[in-house]
Amino acid sequence: MQLPLRGAFPAWLTGTLLRTGPAKFDVGSTTVNHWFDGLAMLHRFSFAGGEVTYSNRFLSSDSYCEAAVKGSLARGEFATDPCRTLFQRVAAVFAPHLTDNCNVNVDAFGGKTVALTETTLPVRFDAETLETLGHYAASAEVGGMVSIAHPHHDAERGCRFSYVVDFGRRSHYRLFAIPDDGSPERVVAEMPIDKPAYMHSFAMTERYLVLTEFPLVVDPLRLMLGLAPFIRNYRWTPQRGLRFHVFDKDSGALIASRTADAAFAFHHVNAYEEGADVVIDVITYEDAGIIDQLYLERLRAGEPVNATGRLMRYRLPLNGGDPMHPVAIADEMLELPRIDYEHCAGKPYRYVWGAGRRPGGDFLDSIVGVDVESGATRTWFADGCFPGEPVFVAKPDAQGEGEGVLLSVVLDARRSQSFLLVLDAQSLAEIARADCPHHIPFSFHGNYFPKH
Ligand SMILES: [Fe+2]
Repeated sequence: MQLPLRGAFPAWLTGTLLRTGPAKFDVGSTTVNHWFDGLAMLHRFSFAGGEVTYSNRFLSSDSYCEAAVKGSLARGEFATDPCRTLFQRVAAVFAPHLTDNCNVNVDAFGGKTVALTETTLPVRFDAETLETLGHYAASAEVGGMVSIAHPHHDAERGCRFSYVVDFGRRSHYRLFAIPDDGSPERVVAEMPIDKPAYMHSFAMTERYLVLTEFPLVVDPLRLMLGLAPFIRNYRWTPQRGLRFHVFDKDSGALIASRTADAAFAFHHVNAYEEGADVVIDVITYEDAGIIDQLYLERLRAGEPVNATGRLMRYRLPLNGGDPMHPVAIADEMLELPRIDYEHCAGKPYRYVWGAGRRPGGDFLDSIVGVDVESGATRTWFADGCFPGEPVFVAKPDAQGEGEGVLLSVVLDARRSQSFLLVLDAQSLAEIARADCPHHIPFSFHGNYFPKH
């Protein structure tokens, strides 16, 4: 449907914003436990000639279809597991029934549009109609069960990098490359690990891939026995500290491992090399309590949700040296960070944008822009409005970093309606809004795909 506009959408904005997020929390007579468990809905905003159209569609994943037939959740999600008999639990150890409820992010693998969750079952869909097209099957050598929804794109090497965790008697982290030309995935590096960590994202510089092991770890046997929903098998173990493992992108060699004080994060912002150091910017929390805050029961009871962390900078001395002391880059609390990825991924950079929480605020009530060089910040907010991830889109003729706009789907709680907001990325001045006729369930991530 075509959306009514307030303000003028930039005429150069010719492409599509594709997003995914949890949208169905009640399945038959059952309700999922956690915000991250809702069944996925795809959202599509299309831009051409200053006009905006919107459509949405549930992802017809196997998780969704099986739940529809069964009348209750059929596959184990992040924090919800369907009731299973002892026999079914044992069977699941030998043939894990992974979820393909891809409600976390949207990307393109080898030219194919995919929705992603944190298993090795991305789901392909048609970027025009949002029709589900089946699983994206990676080459067999990648293997694994758990993966991430935040791959990195390396324009110079013409590939994306991602990683999986292979659980077993001997568990492994396995980094792999997904070539842009559609040729088979290849394993880049592998590392044995006794107790794998829960990692929602990782860091990339020009030469390195960095796994940041937060001390939220799991005994693989416990996970395979399926005694509890996925994340409830993980234990906060702060005495492990925060471990960084730096791998060479080309040789796969483990260059260095460094340990800092315990912290938790979902999202890396960016990383880059500086002399013999690797600099990593992350939105951190003191511990993994943020996961507990997002259980549906708490959210529906209206209990306060911080949902934001602090932008911290870690410096890893690759040739040894003193322990690292992370430094806070800005005072503002934020989440769902984005950068001018095309110009700055893996390189020194200046700007990060995220959904913010104002002092005393609840949930994500603003959009924040941070100059990481100076620590200066800008904020956009409107009473009763809750913005989602601000996706940066560069102007076609951009000469430098940050020349473009931010696109964010905002819930106006007072009107129970959502709108697509366009901000100038530099000033955070409002440029335009496109009003949706209803509210859009808060989505996690998405990407802008320019029309070629
Ligand atoms: Fe994420």
